[in-house]
Amino acid sequence: MKIFHRIKHFFRYLWVAQSKYYIHSPFVYQFYLNVLERKPDVAIDRINAGRSFLAKSKDFIYQTDLGTGKSHQRKLSMLESQVAVRPKYGEVLFRLARYLKPENVVELGTSVGISSGYLALGNDSAKVITLEGSKELTAQARLFHQFLNVSNVTYLEGNINNTLPELLADLKQVDLAFIDSNHSKQATLNYFESFLPYVHSNSVLVFDDIYWSAEMTEAWMDIKKHSDVKLTLEIYQFGIVLFRKENVERESFTLRY
Ligand SMILES: C[S@@+](CC[C@H](N)C(=O)[O-])C[C@H]1O[C@@H](n2cnc3c(N)ncnc32)[C@H](O)[C@@H]1O
Repeated sequence: MKIFHRIKHFFRYLWVAQSKYYIHSPFVYQFYLNVLERKPDVAIDRINAGRSFLAKSKDFIYQTDLGTGKSHQRKLSMLESQVAVRPKYGEVLFRLARYLKPENVVELGTSVGISSGYLALGNDSAKVITLEGSKELTAQARLFHQFLNVSNVTYLEGNINNTLPELLADLKQVDLAFIDSNHSKQATLNYFESFLPYVHSNSVLVFDDIYWSAEMTEAWMDIKKHSDVKLTLEIYQFGIVLFRKENVERESFTLRY
């Protein structure tokens, strides 16, 4: 049962997570101060205003299922409250984009554009490319980004299995990626492998929902063990992967957030 898996790992997280006072690595300490410490920001207020507009909406959206081609109705308010990244974690994406100053940001799983909104607002000179299978959701995301007044997002419609390899070959380098689409073990590992030839020492990959299911946790454990991965940071909801060449030994931190 997924719910027991999540509860078990949540308590484990509370037990093992370190506060900033116990971080021995200067790099991770700086990362903590810049990315995990919550600070008010007008851009966050703007996205919160957009979120509450969606939360109050009575509208439905027709979403076409990638596998069956069938359409089904989904409430916009439900996509905001249950599908999109929660505000606390969206803010991590915002601060990551601001701190890392990435040129190319890739997101897998646009939905109604909330997480890409945080990424785009975090750094308006970054190019944010977001991939989604449903054209109805992409259209809704465009509207959401107009509301936020962001103009640095590019949308790629279609099955990520097809669109991601073409995009990566074109971009040649990825500085920051947020992986939040197909939540199966194999898909998650495939996405990770796809990014590997295009990352550099300062690239950061963020995996959502690493404790959402046993499968996702298994994928996360495999990713942590990969020889190219030099540093991992966990904040329960997200697993953050870094490839820092400076790290001779592989390190892993679970951080209180
Ligand atoms: C959890 S939602 C993304 C939420 C979004 N990142 C946010 O926080 O606002 C996952 C999205 O991935 C899309 N998706 C899943 N598998 C896909 C695939 N193979 N190709 C394209 N899109 C896919 C779904 O249509 C869904 O909209």
